[in-house]
Formats: sequence, structure tokens, C-alpha cells
Amino acid sequence: MNCRMIQGAKIVSTGSAIPSVRVDNEKMSSFVDTSDEWIFTRTGIKERRVLTDLDKSIIDLSIDASFEALKSINMHPSEIDLVILATSSPNDLFGSASKIQYEIGAINALAFDLTAACSGFVIGLVTAAQFIFTGAYKNVLVIGSDVLSKWVDWSDRSTCILFGDAAGAVILQSCNSSSNSILNFNLNTDGKYSNYLSIPYEESFDTHPILKLRQGCFKYISMNGKEVYKFAVSKVPLSIINSLTEINMSTKDIDWLLLHQANERIISAIADKLSISSDKIISNLSKYGNTSAASIPLALNEALKLKKISRNDIIVVAGFGAGLTWGTIVIRW
Ligand code: COA
Repeated sequence: MNCRMIQGAKIVSTGSAIPSVRVDNEKMSSFVDTSDEWIFTRTGIKERRVLTDLDKSIIDLSIDASFEALKSINMHPSEIDLVILATSSPNDLFGSASKIQYEIGAINALAFDLTAACSGFVIGLVTAAQFIFTGAYKNVLVIGSDVLSKWVDWSDRSTCILFGDAAGAVILQSCNSSSNSILNFNLNTDGKYSNYLSIPYEESFDTHPILKLRQGCFKYISMNGKEVYKFAVSKVPLSIINSLTEINMSTKDIDWLLLHQANERIISAIADKLSISSDKIISNLSKYGNTSAASIPLALNEALKLKKISRNDIIVVAGFGAGLTWGTIVIRW
């Protein structure tokens, strides 16, 4: 991290929301050729939540998560200066953040979407921290929210078993720089491999009679599972080590490892590489699957409710996913 800090930043509140419809591995086996045994041993996932209500979207989940975060510290929505919505499944290609800003009553806030797939929350939190470090804003609401069930091919057993829908939110607040809790970050992109994980736009063959335009639509999630697995297990540990080394810390200082909840085998392999014991891993993947940008704030909110995290604990948060993008934030709680 190399930035001029006028103010420090700290997470003062969290919230999350999940749809009520639960789809377990048995249910998955009723419509694709798979089994609970295959899914659980390959991924650690037992069930996931899906948003089935016709009139509901990431906006509704995001509003619920945001209200939980606001209420838990009795903050009035008008105190929020900025809303960052990390999502890859907006309801509107021009962005969904503004609808959330309106619906929660954050009348003084700028709101924008940030698209970085499963790394979206990490990049969103780092973005929020920059606005706070410079003294520009005091309270930033960062939401990670995805409803990838809208973009999953439910007949493709290699992808549909992985994903679930959810939203998570945190409020990042300015504080004295000596109390800053965002100790360091490390963000990376390698667009060379963007085709390993994507929701491609496909043009139709309809052409405009005069302009010869082609218009199309987005299709389903396409993924090279093996390559994504190798990418995560090789790149994320390096990012974590770099971000710790830069601030004279080591993996021994980690109290909690909070990784993007993609696959239990990925999480364990990264922890093994870093020699981090399993009791320091925060994981709720078995209940929700991969909820993309929502997975980290959802797991963080749950860990806090379970009173796992104590003041001054060092939490290493790392996200990875489509782009390809990956990154780490070191937090002192
Ligand atoms: N149920 C049963 N069999 C399945 C299956 C399913 N849901 N999905 C795939 N298979 C089959 C394949 O067809 C293949 O059969 P074959 O050997 O007859 O061809 C076999 O299982 C092995 O498939 P493979 O793709 O090699 O499995 P894998 O061990 O690599 O596991 C993933 C697949 C997707 C679980 C794994 O690659 C992975 O987790 N990758 C990372 C994905 C990820 O996390 N993406 C999001 C990142 S943000």
C-alpha cells in the first residue's frame, strides 16, 4: 500500500442477506447427473440459496444487508457519503447502486457499481478506503451482492453446483490515522486468462436493415474449472505473503484467514501453503456455495455474530475470480 493517509479507516458494522429458498445437493441430483458425495468431496458445498421470487433481485438482498449494517450501529442512512455496490449481476447494465441508494434513503451519498466478479468486495473495500484515507468521505457503505443463479446454466453440472445467491455489506468509517485498521492491500489482474471464467456477450444474427447492427445478450457462466483452481491456489498465497511482508508481518501474525468462499479444497490448499491451521479459517461455504462478491462480507458477518473475532485480531481477507483478478487486505480488527 503506497498512499498518503490523512484519515484512518475501520469497519464499524456488517450485515448480510440470503434468499429463503435452499437447494441442497440431493435436490441438485434430481435435475443434473451428480451426487451429494461428488459435490461435497470436490467442493465442500452441501447446499446453496437461490432467489426464486420473480420480482426480487440483488437490489432487495442488498437493501436488507445494508439495513442490518446501518441498524446495528444506529446510523441514519443520510450519514452515508458513498455507496459502492460490488456486483456482476446488476439489474440494470447502467448500474444498480443508485436504486439501493434511493431505497435505503442514503440521500447524501454518491453511488456506483463496481464489477470485479468474486474479487469485487475486496476491490470495493480498497476503493472505499482510498476515499476515506484522503479525507474525502467519512462513511462508506460497501456492498457485495450477486444473484448468479440468473446466469448459471442449470443443465451444466460442472458449474451449476458451485454458485449461490447472497448479499453482504460493511460500513467503513474514517478514524484517527493511528487507529487505522486497513493495514495493507495487494490487488492484481491478469486479463490474459479472462476466458477461464466469464459470462460472455453473444451477438445474435439479427442485423439492422440499414445500419447492419448486431445486437445480442449475455449467456451463461462458462468456466475452465481446473485452470481457475490452479490460478487461485498459486496466486492467492503470493498476494497474501506480499501484503504481509510489506508491513513487516508474517503468516504467523494471522488470527483469521477469510478467503473468497469458492471451494473448500481451494481454501485448504491456500491455508496449507501458508501453514495456517484449520482453526484459523473462516468458512461457511458448505451452507451457501460460492456467492461471488457476497461471499466475504457474508462470512465476516456470520463470524462476528458467532463472536469468533476479537479486537486487534489480524484478519487476512483475500478474493479471487474472473478477470482474472485477485487481491488481499490485511485488517486489524
Ligand atoms: N457431478 C458429477 N460429476 C461431475 C460433475 C458433477 N457436478 N461435474 C463434473 N463432473 C465430472 C466431469 O464430467 C468429469 O468426468 P469425466 O472424467 O468422465 O470427463 C469428472 O467429473 C472430473 O471433472 P473435472 O472437471 O476434472 O473435476 P475437478 O476435480 O477439476 O473438479 C471443479 C471440478 C469445478 C469442482 C474444480 O475444478 C474446481 O473447483 N475449480 C475451481 C472452480 C471455482 O472455484 N470457480 C469459481 C472461482 S471464483
